[in-house]
Amino acid sequence: MTTVVMTGGTSGIGAVAAARLREAGARLLIGGRTAGDGVLRLDLADARSVRAFAATAADRLDGAPIDALVLNAGLSFATDRNRTADGVETTFAVNHLSQYLLLRLLLPRLAEGARVVLTSSSTHDPEHAGVLPAPRHADAALLADPDRDPARDPKRAGGHAYTASKLCNVLTVEALNTRAEARERRITAIAYDPGPTPGTGLSRDFSPGVKLVWTLLGSPLGRLMPRFSSRAAAGGTMARLALGEIEPPAGRRYVALRRGRPQWTDPSELARDPKARDALWNDSAAMLDLEA
Ligand SMILES: NC(=O)c1ccc[n+]([C@@H]2O[C@H](COP(=O)([O-])OP(=O)(O)OC[C@H]3O[C@@H](n4cnc5c(N)ncnc54)[C@H](OP(=O)(O)O)[C@@H]3O)[C@@H](O)[C@H]2O)c1
Repeated sequence: MTTVVMTGGTSGIGAVAAARLREAGARLLIGGRTAGDGVLRLDLADARSVRAFAATAADRLDGAPIDALVLNAGLSFATDRNRTADGVETTFAVNHLSQYLLLRLLLPRLAEGARVVLTSSSTHDPEHAGVLPAPRHADAALLADPDRDPARDPKRAGGHAYTASKLCNVLTVEALNTRAEARERRITAIAYDPGPTPGTGLSRDFSPGVKLVWTLLGSPLGRLMPRFSSRAAAGGTMARLALGEIEPPAGRRYVALRRGRPQWTDPSELARDPKARDALWNDSAAMLDLEA
């Protein structure tokens, strides 16, 4: 039986993926803010909760290796003013730092040949950021405390926190694929861009107007717009990536869903920068008191 540990499996794209994984017979452990059937308590805005979840998941697995780790949870705010209990900007903490922590804690428990799927977004790339501000950097110290960022634009700071966190997701995948512990155990990490997928919970912290537009675009009306992904296609592809039904071609680690089809392509230039990659890995480790 395939064992999958997952974040962000309770809503939107991830809930569809979780349903597909269950249908495929996978044993699924989901971390979510509301514990329930098959869902263990996990609040990514609190590093203690991440450590507790990793310990509980390990107990539940009772030595069974993890075949796929799906790090899909994510959120987006209109501002960068929110802080976690640890004083870290919340978008950076939830979308990157806590999932990096979970990855590091569960890495020793991954099976030989395991998959890690991290949900990024095309908005990490200046060429595809659309209405959102493109990320200017992936500097962990500045993203954790954006008030220190000399180029911070207060009007677009929430969007920048989101796109920069999605850049961090791609860089984390790039870094993991270079690590000896991943290579020796043939672990494959993939960064997944589901494409614009309206109708999910991602707009929950925005104004009623934005939420209404997002909901309408996620209705059958939105299907008239071919550049949008459906939740079924976005979640189904995530499940297939986790199950190894979609294999990356040699040298490819970034896959984008376009018109319902997975396309292996290059992430942004900054996402391919080895200095940014190594700095993010090492600085994230230092922030969490982990060895780099
Ligand atoms: N929709 C799009 O257009 C789009 C495009 C590109 C990338 N993405 C990415 O796709 C992923 C899924 O987004 P979605 O659109 O499906 O949105 P969604 O419906 O809001 O799903 C987000 C998931 O993240 C979880 N989550 C949020 N904050 C959390 C926290 N503090 N602790 C634990 N879990 C938390 C949510 O759990 P709760 O049930 O607890 O809220 C939910 O399961 C995100 O990483 C997003 O950035 C989305």
